[in-house]
Parts: sequence; structure tokens; C-alpha cells
Amino acid sequence: MRASFTWSLMVVLGLAGCGGASSGSEGGTGTDGTTGSEDDIPTAENWEGMSHDDKAAWMAQEVVPRMEALFTGHDADRYANFSCRTCHGEGAAHGDFEMPSRSLPALHPTGSPEQQAMVQQYRPMLVFMYQEVLPTMQQLIGAPDFEEETGGGFSCFACHPHAGDEGTTPLITLEPAEAAADEAGDAG
Ligand code: HEC
Ligand code: HEC
Repeated sequence: MRASFTWSLMVVLGLAGCGGASSGSEGGTGTDGTTGSEDDIPTAENWEGMSHDDKAAWMAQEVVPRMEALFTGHDADRYANFSCRTCHGEGAAHGDFEMPSRSLPALHPTGSPEQQAMVQQYRPMLVFMYQEVLPTMQQLIGAPDFEEETGGGFSCFACHPHAGDEGTTPLITLEPAEAAADEAGDAG
């Protein structure tokens, strides 16, 4: 069920005890020495009502510098060329900024074996996504909190498509056993 994806992810990551999903106001939650301070993150006034150009300008001025800092803090090599494309894909080059982005891995539904494999295989990335990327993005555009009952509000699926959606590429997950071996092999 889509509605419970974020919640169930928190539970399996062991983060469920520490407050509501994406409260966006707790600072310093980074687990790896990155500064998770969200105090100085601005919020776009009336994001929904902004023109396309104003949204693009907000992205360039406020979103990209902050997100670049987060992503390079998480993995400097992988995100050395951070840009609009990191989130929006190749389409960004010709003005296609539609979100969720087909260029990002599509996430598998709650309770599926693939989702379980994802948690095992991508744990550090998921903690980063959940604790830093998601609340920062939410605050930057002033999006409403995720609502467990309705599945509305800001979630992973503001950026990532659902696995199975047309034209998307599902997140590659190894078999659980392989993933464990992989993690042991190159932990990092
Ligand atoms: C960290 C990820 C991220 C990066 C980097 C990023 N964006 Fe975005 N962008 C988003 C998200 C998420 C949305 C959708 C927000 C929403 O739900 O309305 C969005 C929406 C937009 C929109 C509005 C799209 C529409 O159809 O109305 C534009 C325009 C845009 N981005 C331009 C840019 C530009 C230009 C850059 C680079 C300067 C950029 N973005 C970089 C995440 C990102
Ligand atoms: C603001 C947009 C945004 C949000 C919100 C977001 N992600 Fe991501 N996610 C990204 C970007 C950008 C990447 C990096 C893609 C790349 O490396 O090219 C990514 C990568 C990933 C990956 C791939 C990891 C890998 O190593 O290849 C997974 C898994 C993932 N995200 C899961 C999630 C989950 C689960 C959530 C919700 C808790 C979430 N993301 C929320 C933008 C976002």
C-alpha cells in the first residue's frame, strides 16, 4: 500500500521512535557527522502559486546549493557533478522538470521482497534520504507533512516514481543474501 511506505520505512530503519515523519524542524539529526541543521533553510512563499521561472530561480538559488552540500557530504565522489540533472534527469537540459522524475529509481511497494532487499542494500542511503534529503526539500518548498492516513503530503514519491509506473526504471535490488555479502564486502 502506497500510503504506508514512509512509515513502514521508518520502522524498518529503526527511526520510528524519534518523532513524526519529516517534521522538518529538528536540527542536527545527521548520523554521520554531517550537519543536519535545518534552522537556516528558507521556505518558498506560496510554492504552488509560483511561476515556472520563479520556481526555476528558487531551485537554482536555494535548492541546489543546499542539496549539493548534503549530497556531497554524503558521497563527495558520486555527487561531484551535482546539478538540476541529479534530480530532474536529462530532461532538465531541455526544460523538462516534471516530478517525480523518471530518471530516479522507482521504489518498490511496502512489504514487497524488493523493498526489504532495498532496506538491506541501501541502508546508509535510505537514512540519508529520510533524515536529510526529504525534510530539507520539504522545507525548501513549504510542502505539507506526509499524512499516514491519506498518503498525501510530501514523501519519497515527490521525487521518486513508484515501481511499475510507465517509463520508469525500478531500483535494482540484489537478492537479500547477495546484498548482505555485498555490504560486508565494501561497507561504506
Ligand atoms: C534535490 C533535488 C532537486 C534539484 C537538485 C533540483 N530540483 Fe527542481 N524540483 C525538485 C522537486 C522535488 C520539485 C517538485 C516540487 C513539487 O512537488 O512541486 C521540483 C520542481 C521544479 C520545477 C517546477 C516543475 C513544474 O513542472 O512546475 C522547476 C521549474 C524546477 N524544479 C527547476 C529546477 C532547476 C532549474 C534546477 C537546477 C538549477 C532544479 N530544479 C534542481 C527537486 C530538485
Ligand atoms: C528531493 C528529492 C528526493 C527525495 C524526497 C527522496 N529522494 Fe531518494 N534520491 C534522490 C536523488 C537525487 C538520488 C540520487 C540519484 C543518483 O545517485 O543519481 C536518490 C537516490 C535514492 C536511492 C538510490 C540509492 C543508490 O545508491 O543508488 C534510493 C534507494 C532512494 N533514493 C530512496 C529514497 C527513499 C526511500 C526516500 C524517502 C524516504 C527518498 N529516496 C526521498 C532524490 C530524492
